[in-house]
Amino acid sequence: MIETKGLIMRFADGSSIRYQDLAFEAGHSYALLGASGCGKTTLLNMIAGILTPTEGSVCIDDKDVAVWSQRQRDDFRIHQIGYIFQDFKLLGDMTVRDNIDILRLEGVDVGNMDALLDRLGILRLKKRRVRNLSGGERQRVAIARALIKNPPIVLADEPTGNLNFEVGSAVMRQLIDNLNGGTLIAVTHDDRLSGMFDHVLDMNQVARGEATA
Ligand SMILES: Nc1ncnc2c1ncn2[C@@H]1O[C@H](COP(=O)(O)OP(=O)(O)OP(=O)(O)O)[C@@H](O)[C@H]1O
Ligand SMILES: [Mg+2]
Repeated sequence: MIETKGLIMRFADGSSIRYQDLAFEAGHSYALLGASGCGKTTLLNMIAGILTPTEGSVCIDDKDVAVWSQRQRDDFRIHQIGYIFQDFKLLGDMTVRDNIDILRLEGVDVGNMDALLDRLGILRLKKRRVRNLSGGERQRVAIARALIKNPPIVLADEPTGNLNFEVGSAVMRQLIDNLNGGTLIAVTHDDRLSGMFDHVLDMNQVARGEATA
């Protein structure tokens, strides 16, 4: 269970976002919808422990990650969270295989890489450099890198934004079908895809931007 309470993110320029309290249950999938700039990525980054909320708490299984040290949060994220970033954050000069293999340095077992790449339709790209791949191919590499650890929490920031509807819905179905009692929180702009989720959260209603602090 992931619970946020009283979350406020205030940026250096004085603007801020205030969130309604949210709860994400284990075993459930959540689609986040909302206008560009309403605060979806910021929310995922606070849950992932990449951004520290200015106020409020993010409790994961009753532990408040917002008060942990950055080291503890990084450690938790590495082992418990699969994060598919909006901008992928892949290493372009490295091959698909090496982008995933590198997780071994963090103690991740990458033994089932081929089966996962095959399921995502990118096994044949394994030895290609990421910078030479198309947007949709890169997106699926980012998904593979997040799923290889079988994480109990998957945060997916528009994971199918570069894929056509057919491939996108198949990939989204894989994310949802692989929950295994975990939690999936996925940003999507596609109403046809949000219908596949257990819950749909309209962030336009949940996050309120404030121009000045
Ligand atoms: N470091 C920052 N400093 C100032 N403002 C920021 C910062 N990071 C984000 N913002 C602002 O906070 C708001 C929310 O950003 P966020 O990236 O969470 O939006 P989003 O809902 O993910 O949008 P999109 O759908 O375009 O990805 C935006 O108005 C953005 O400009
Ligand atoms: Mg975003």
